[in-house]
Amino acid sequence: MTHSLTLRRPDDWHLHLRDGAMLRAMLPETTRHFSRAIIMPNLVPPVVTAAQAVAYRDRILTALPEGATFEPLMTLYLTEETDANDLAAAHASGLIKAVKLYPAGATTNSASGVKDFDKVRPVFERMAEIGCPLCVHGEVTDANVDIFDREAVFIDRVLDPVRRATPGLRVVMEHITTAQGVDYARAGGPDLAATITTHHLVINRNHILVGGIKPHYYCLPVAKREEHRLALRAAATSGHRAFFLGTDSAPHVDAAKEQACGCAGCFTATNTMSVLAEVFEQDGALDQLEAFASLNGPAFYRLPANDATMTLTRGAPVDYPAYIATSDGPVTVFDPGYPLHWQVD
Ligand code: DOR
Ligand code: ZN
Repeated sequence: MTHSLTLRRPDDWHLHLRDGAMLRAMLPETTRHFSRAIIMPNLVPPVVTAAQAVAYRDRILTALPEGATFEPLMTLYLTEETDANDLAAAHASGLIKAVKLYPAGATTNSASGVKDFDKVRPVFERMAEIGCPLCVHGEVTDANVDIFDREAVFIDRVLDPVRRATPGLRVVMEHITTAQGVDYARAGGPDLAATITTHHLVINRNHILVGGIKPHYYCLPVAKREEHRLALRAAATSGHRAFFLGTDSAPHVDAAKEQACGCAGCFTATNTMSVLAEVFEQDGALDQLEAFASLNGPAFYRLPANDATMTLTRGAPVDYPAYIATSDGPVTVFDPGYPLHWQVD
């Protein structure tokens, strides 16, 4: 049995850091293990302009723990009013690495997102020209579509038509949760990739609903049937270039999750690398963890992999905190439901 594993230092290609007190509490959880992260722009108000992205990046850099070397990779939140020139300038200067598409109403703080995809077609065309990736929250919001079908329907109704209409548009299907998402990403060629979260490799919808409702397993897109989780596992552990880690670690204080209308989001930043090592070991694929967590993401984003390395060691069950304290209250850390044996050195 392997007892030690060294890989290039990982990056997180989809992360919610929030702002203010939450940002300060969350940053160390990510910077301890990750060198870079794609920072989600769904603040209130959202990060829509280059000027807002500069200000948010500065707040992140100011809040960095002492000694941390961490690069926040900023994104803009796409609205129907997004200015393509502002976006292109922000991309050319290196300020932003991607633009995030939220269908209006799909998830937390998505009210300013896109309702009419035709309205943003000129922005998509400009992004294709300049090679700026579009990170897509891929769920339709049509009330008539069952929540467990929303990702598959989005691929057929929105994503595939947009990609056909905009050749060269580089797309990241964020946090895929279905076999349909896996198949579409795998077949999409070099301009298409997909992030997979830690928690969607571990839980299916039974984990949320059987034996009492588990608010800390509720996120969007919601976890699906077991066959979909297995498809995600096969994709992540395959090493295929189209699949890489985006934790979608999305902290909400416990009081906001444990209530009649609880917020969506699993908080996994703290123990993601231990969970992933356990998952890849269970599937006999420890040799593919580096591709998933450290190599495929930078390759898609046309950035170098990190020079620094990380070593994980296998041993007695790992201790990790049940929650992270913030001045707004505790944030529960994702519990995979089994002991973790891989400790980051
Ligand atoms: O579960 C989620 N939480 N999914 C999202 O898309 C947004 C995120 C959040 O910001 O809390
Ligand atoms: Zn997210």
